[in-house]
Amino acid sequence: MDAITVEDLTKDYPTRKGPVQALSGVSLRVERGEIVGLLGANGAGKTTAIKILCGLLRQTSGRAEVFGVPSSRPEVARHVAALLEGSRNVYWRLSVEENLRFFAGLQGLPPYEARRRCAELVAHFGLGEKRRTTANLLSQGMKQKLALACALVKGTPVLLLDEPTLGLDVETSHELRGMIRELATGEGKTVLLSSHDMGVVEDTCRRVIILARGRVVADDLVPNLLALFQTRAYQVSLRDGLPQDARARLARRFLTFRVAEGERAVAVELPPEQDVYTLMDALREEGVAVDGVSRVEPNLEDVFLRIVRGE
Ligand SMILES: Nc1ncnc2c1ncn2[C@@H]1O[C@H](COP(=O)(O)OP(=O)(O)OP(=O)(O)O)[C@@H](O)[C@H]1O
Ligand SMILES: [Mg+2]
Repeated sequence: MDAITVEDLTKDYPTRKGPVQALSGVSLRVERGEIVGLLGANGAGKTTAIKILCGLLRQTSGRAEVFGVPSSRPEVARHVAALLEGSRNVYWRLSVEENLRFFAGLQGLPPYEARRRCAELVAHFGLGEKRRTTANLLSQGMKQKLALACALVKGTPVLLLDEPTLGLDVETSHELRGMIRELATGEGKTVLLSSHDMGVVEDTCRRVIILARGRVVADDLVPNLLALFQTRAYQVSLRDGLPQDARARLARRFLTFRVAEGERAVAVELPPEQDVYTLMDALREEGVAVDGVSRVEPNLEDVFLRIVRGE
């Protein structure tokens, strides 16, 4: 059985100007033990989908289930916990420890078990010194760690993480990425994670689902998505630069044609029907002396931008 099943999910937010459709027929599945990235521009519907899946928000239509339990049912809380955007799942006026105990209590853990788990998480996230500090006085990164700890303390098999590394410094972000990977590999948890940080996504996710305007526009393993855009981009280093008029003519022939490395190179993207020989011929025709050619490996960010722009 899939850990997460979403089928033909729609969500309209009622507003004074009429309904805003945040999700328009989203279908997706996440298997047990997978870490899947949920990507999309601002307003694409990521937070809406996550809130529906953890039962905070009711869908307009369609199916959203965690281990077969509809997310609108209270029992879903046994299976899924969420770190919400901006660490909104923690109580600002409670201390670190009080937050953790509160969430452990909600899950109905016996007190000794709750205490053990809280202490473990406090140590794991390096929050020991701030145990008795109220959440509103924590730094952004500490809030984020507390928010993740509050989601973890429940011990659910599925975790929804909405922008878990937002506002974290480089080191903390790396630390958290490691922790997220460990959740799946070490503990067999299922993670659906939204992020605008492609480094985080490339580092943690095996598969990504891309939303655009409330619809799924891509759903594939990261290497497959990267392969989709491979071999089309080249960097050519030039022996003696490029005259203005030649540059303009060349720019018209290719998808993109950018001067790089302070005029010492050009970055070129070929349309599907052309190959690297077309490019070399075009440069030769313009009398451009070429020093070397290398293929540019696309990264997830390029792929994401092109998919979202509908290329
Ligand atoms: N409470 C609300 N009332 C009305 N419209 C809303 C509400 N919450 C979200 N929306 C709208 O729903 C759409 C999806 O928003 P959502 O927050 O799910 O996007 P997101 O993908 O999480 O974006 P971001 O990357 O900025 O966090 C947007 O058009 C947004 O304006
Ligand atoms: Mg969001």
